[in-house]
Amino acid sequence: MTVTSTSTASTATTSATTPAICDAPPLPVLGRDVTVPLVTGGEVSYAALDYAASAPALQRVWDDVAAYAPYYGSVHRGAGYLSQLSTELFEQSRATVADFLGCRPADQVIFTRSTTDSLNLLAAVLPAGTQIFVFETEHHAALLPWQRAKGARVTCLAAPRTPEQAVAALDVALHAAPKGPKLVCVTGASNVTGEVWPVRRLAAAAHRHGARIVLDAAQLAPHRKVDVAELDVDWVAFSGHKLYAPFGAGVLAGRPDWLRDAEPYLAGGGATRTVVRRADGQVEAEWQESPAARHEAGSPNVIGAYAVASACKALTEAGFDRLAEHERQLLDLLRDGLAGIPEVRVLSLFGDGADRVGVLSFVVQGWNSSHLAAALSAEHGIGVRDGLFCAHPLVRHLLGGEPEDPGACGSPENLSFNAVRVSFGVGTPHEHVRRFTGALAKLVREGAAWTYRTESGRCVPAPTA
Ligand SMILES: Cc1ncc(COP(=O)(O)O)c(C=O)c1O
Repeated sequence: MTVTSTSTASTATTSATTPAICDAPPLPVLGRDVTVPLVTGGEVSYAALDYAASAPALQRVWDDVAAYAPYYGSVHRGAGYLSQLSTELFEQSRATVADFLGCRPADQVIFTRSTTDSLNLLAAVLPAGTQIFVFETEHHAALLPWQRAKGARVTCLAAPRTPEQAVAALDVALHAAPKGPKLVCVTGASNVTGEVWPVRRLAAAAHRHGARIVLDAAQLAPHRKVDVAELDVDWVAFSGHKLYAPFGAGVLAGRPDWLRDAEPYLAGGGATRTVVRRADGQVEAEWQESPAARHEAGSPNVIGAYAVASACKALTEAGFDRLAEHERQLLDLLRDGLAGIPEVRVLSLFGDGADRVGVLSFVVQGWNSSHLAAALSAEHGIGVRDGLFCAHPLVRHLLGGEPEDPGACGSPENLSFNAVRVSFGVGTPHEHVRRFTGALAKLVREGAAWTYRTESGRCVPAPTA
């Protein structure tokens, strides 16, 4: 039996013959027709400009999941027809993700809950005494799991100001490191600045010194082709909900050996070959050898994995060149709009000419970023993110804060240490970016039309203006 949905990437509204500037987004997403109430009265269509947090589902993903849903069954257990079908689709999804990532033949794809989960899994399987190298610019999900790895020593490198500095700093740190297993963890694209990191060169530096490298592709994979073999990274991690597949699945893919040699990430059903009760009353388990089975204990999230695979197919069929060109147009529009507001300062490590995905953060002189974000939502129906974006050291560095300065994700209390982030992707029409820059200019020029207050750590409209 096959499971088919009616929508394909061919429902996209532009084609190879599309003129250079076209307002239509390349792939349809859910939520295009959603309207939201304004605090000042009336309703407006919602402009989702927070793709970097969670992107809307592709219509194609939704349709594929809906087509599969009636056939939903248990995976790797159950003799019934639908269990067998679900097992087959789950394993096909694994193969699709491996293709999407350009995995080498021996690489393994493990389904997790998210990038955070994937990197914690890798941290849990590190050989004893592994030295880890990260930049302070990482998202907390890539900065923190290593601190908990048994016997591991973490070196946190200062934020570089150019891609070349990043490569040179890593080179020096690895050169000075004592012998033993080493792992470098690096982001593909920053969730704060959107800037693309020199992954291939960092991988070459890591391998030159006998270190391995894991790529945090949470922000890169939804925007650019990630090819594990071509980048020569050892592992890659990403999240389905940022890749237009919001069904609770993530991926860790890459080399099998450390995964095969370690204790299972979760102990439980599916990770075991046999379990016995010994005569002395102890329970003994013999674990599965295959990394996927060993580290995917419990009933797998088959809908999540299927949705991730569906998104991988849709993005591949649409073509990353075309998707990147659409984003480049949106970025140009955004930057032009922001350039007309002198109070705006765009946050950047690598400077104006840096290659970026559709993620950009900024501050506005005289404004608390949480206040701005709240007003953009309440008065204009535009959803952006405010705060420190779970990358406190980086945002502090960019805003000139001291390490002791407090920071909290999304909290409006830290007035000088938060920023606004705008992010977009395959479903974003040009009109959303134009609306955003227009609304921002109006707010900066005229002030907010409503009053706001802090409630449970968030800036929200007061009940009456
Ligand atoms: C660069 C980066 N890495 C890791 C993560 C963590 O992703 P998740 O919350 O899906 O685990 C994020 C989330 O924003 C991110 O932007």
